[in-house]
Amino acid sequence: MKPLGPIPAGFAAVDGELVIAGHKASDLVERAGDTPLFVYSRTMLRNHIARLRDAMPEGLAIHYAVKANPYGPVLELMSELVDGFDVASGGEMAMAFKAGVSPQLVSFAGPGKRDTELAAAIHHGVTINLESEGEAERALEIASRDGRTARLAIRVNPDFDLKGSGMKMGGGAKPFGVDAERVPALARHIIKQGAEWRGFHIFAGSQALSADALIDTQSQTIDLAVRLAAESGAPLPHCNLGGGFGIPYFPGDEPLDIMEVGTALKARFTALPPILSETRFCIELGRYLVGGSGVYLTRIVDRKVSHGEVFLVTDGGLHHQLAASGNFGTVVRRNYPVAIATRFDAPVEEEATIVGCLCTPMDKLADKAGFPHAEVGDLVAIFCAGAYGASASPAQFLGHGPALEMLV
Ligand SMILES: Cc1ncc(COP(=O)(O)O)c(C=O)c1O
Repeated sequence: MKPLGPIPAGFAAVDGELVIAGHKASDLVERAGDTPLFVYSRTMLRNHIARLRDAMPEGLAIHYAVKANPYGPVLELMSELVDGFDVASGGEMAMAFKAGVSPQLVSFAGPGKRDTELAAAIHHGVTINLESEGEAERALEIASRDGRTARLAIRVNPDFDLKGSGMKMGGGAKPFGVDAERVPALARHIIKQGAEWRGFHIFAGSQALSADALIDTQSQTIDLAVRLAAESGAPLPHCNLGGGFGIPYFPGDEPLDIMEVGTALKARFTALPPILSETRFCIELGRYLVGGSGVYLTRIVDRKVSHGEVFLVTDGGLHHQLAASGNFGTVVRRNYPVAIATRFDAPVEEEATIVGCLCTPMDKLADKAGFPHAEVGDLVAIFCAGAYGASASPAQFLGHGPALEMLV
């Protein structure tokens, strides 16, 4: 039997059934009208972000990376809970505005920004995290053409990466950001051209569970910001320290110790050199903020046996939960936290493989894991589905269409 990932704290059974945000899974499905369904818990989101804020230094802004979950009601809730929003496209920028987010609180990072996206960002006063010298020139030209002042920061490609991170965004040749040694010249240039100078965005990696690795990266990031600010010859209004806070998805993963990270950052903040004394700092997080508060519910539509192995076939699949199928940034497929929601407190009775309804062997939601005996009609819950689920999966593949979503 293969192990399953750890179910996040805060989920319990009532009458044998998984309860999410105070409601039984089957009641939520009834309310939504169908499966598959993503449920996001308002209370869990609030509590989780409050705990993070308590652990971090006072004054450190928390920015939400919209790419993790751009569902409108989630964005609306996040606008009460965070201090800024990171968008990766004109589409995400529009979603943030639609949710009522003030453009002043939005920054736009990501390679390949089109002229129309740059123009929209400049028009609304969104901070653009420049990914290259070429992008800087285009932004400056558009601002001059439109008679506006662009709010520009430079995304720095640091010479280090985030150790142990699932996705490295720095250290060596990268399509992201401007190589550190060329940053001061670019900063001087855009300031001279009359842009509003917004500072540095330094994002070294994603999905790290080691506090030591994050502490080390944040420390190197601050050192780099000090050096680049001095070489740029201008005070640094803002420094985005990146993110990389991970969540446990797989067997053996331990939650990140945010108290340790926060304590180390507080110590660094008490000893900043004068050049950063007026700098406002932020961290930019996606999955850490929303990942654990979401559950994907899908219904078993067939139970079959092949060569002695039990397959539970659901109406969901990788078209909504690509990451749980092991096809979104993981090298070796391991099981996510998965349970039979309608038999949540029942003991393990058999080994089963839970698959989706797509005709590809990739569409596995749990591989050879231990479950209570489940039948057609039972609901399956996939946890850690609040980030990179609905919007990061190929919903149109094979024509099944998107899942329902609900914030409760
Ligand atoms: C620039 C940037 N910000 C934020 C994030 C969010 O990362 P995570 O969801 O792991 O916190 C990413 C992820 O790729 C990113 O590239």
